[in-house]
Amino acid sequence: MSAVTDPKKRVAILISGRGSNMEALIAAAKAPDYPAQIVGVFSNKPDAGGLRTAATHGIATAWRWHKDYPSRTGFELALSDVLRLWRPDIIALAGFMRILTPEFTEKWKGRMINIHPSLLPKHRGLHTHEAVLAAGDKEHGCTVHFVSPGVDEGPTILQARVPVIPGDTPDSLAERILVEEHRIYPEALALVARGAATYTG
Ligand code: GAR
Repeated sequence: MSAVTDPKKRVAILISGRGSNMEALIAAAKAPDYPAQIVGVFSNKPDAGGLRTAATHGIATAWRWHKDYPSRTGFELALSDVLRLWRPDIIALAGFMRILTPEFTEKWKGRMINIHPSLLPKHRGLHTHEAVLAAGDKEHGCTVHFVSPGVDEGPTILQARVPVIPGDTPDSLAERILVEEHRIYPEALALVARGAATYTG
C-alpha cells in the first residue's frame, strides 16, 4: 500500500513593512516536512521592504496601495482579486497594519492568523512595548491568534513570554520579543496547517 501524504497548505502572507516574520515563515516552509508552502506575499504599501526579500526567495509578490482606494471594501476587493490567483488555504498577517472589515475577516474565519507583539488580550494596537513599560508589567510577550473582526482579537494559538528587566527600553523589548515572534509564528502556522489548531465557533 502506498503512503498517502497530505498536500502542503497554500499560504499567502500579508505585510506592510520589513517582513522579518514573513522571512521566518519562508525559512520554515523550506523544510521538506513543513506542512505549508508560501505561495505569495502581498503588501498594502508599494515600498514594503519585505516584497523585495520575498522576491529574492522566488516567491510571487503583489502590492495594492490602500491609498489608491476610496474605501476599505474597495481595497479588499483588489486584495481578493490577487488571492484568487494564488488560491491560498491560509492567510498569515505578518506586520500587516491595515484594519480588515468584518466581511473580510468573516470570509477567512479560521483560515487567517496574525502575530501581535503583546500578551493578548493585553495591549492591543500600536506601541505595545511602550505600553508594557508604562503599565509597569513584569512580563511581556507575543501572541499568534486567529483573526476575528475586532482588532488584535481572536482565539490564541500560541504565546511566548519574556520577563521585563530593569533598564528595558521599547527597543530592547522589541528586540527580545522579535526573537520569540520568529520562533512561535512558524510553529503556530504549522499547527493550523496540520489542523491541530482550529477556530470554528
Ligand atoms: C511585528 O513585531 C509584529 O508582531 C507587529 O509588527 C511587527 C512587524 O515586523 N504586528 C502588529 O503590531 C500587528 N498588530 P516584521 O515586518 O519585521 O515582521
